Amino acid sequence: MATASSGSRQRPRSKALPDVTVLRVGHRAGRDPRLTTHLALTARALGATRMLLHPPDPDLAKRVEAVVRRWGGRFEVLPAAEWRTTVRAFDGTVVHLTMYGLAIQRLLPRLRRARKVLLVVGGAKVPPDLYRLAHYNVAVGHQPHSEVAALAVALDRLLGTPRSAPLEGAQQRIVPRARGKRVVGGRARA
Ligand SMILES: C[S@@+](CC[C@H](N)C(=O)[O-])C[C@H]1O[C@@H](n2cnc3c(N)ncnc32)[C@H](O)[C@@H]1O
Repeated sequence: MATASSGSRQRPRSKALPDVTVLRVGHRAGRDPRLTTHLALTARALGATRMLLHPPDPDLAKRVEAVVRRWGGRFEVLPAAEWRTTVRAFDGTVVHLTMYGLAIQRLLPRLRRARKVLLVVGGAKVPPDLYRLAHYNVAVGHQPHSEVAALAVALDRLLGTPRSAPLEGAQQRIVPRARGKRVVGGRARA
């Protein structure tokens, strides 16, 4: 099985950009599967390599796996049974996204220089010791919003906007159009 330090990038990028792992803390299986699925899809689409999920949710991981099979790339959802162990063992820079932190624009130059970044997002309740365990507590604006929004903005700032080319191994791809939908190799959904 892949570990938090393995895996490959889903899009070619400059060597200078960090390899990003997302850690979702406080997932409530059965209560917010849609929100956590959106976090995983956002992480994948905006260039993270993997998402670690606490507590683990194998069904959600399988659903994301099916998306990756269809749309390509190497993204995976891995279990993080003990999030504190995951944070302490991470061999890179641990960034906790929270509205109480320092402004992202202030920390970006430093974060972009990191080789590996663990972006941690919380749920309804954030364990207080996360603020101490993280190297940086980083805010995307100092207003409450959503973990999906915070993650999307942080990834876009850190890695840049994704290319429109399909990812490696994709079974289907979108042909961008001004109107309507065109999918090659599969069916347009939703
Ligand atoms: C619904 S919020 C939970 C807020 C929670 N009441 C707390 O103690 O922080 C869920 C997650 O969204 C992210 N988030 C929300 N607003 C944010 C902001 N302005 N900047 C960065 N992250 C944010 C954080 O990761 C947070 O843990």
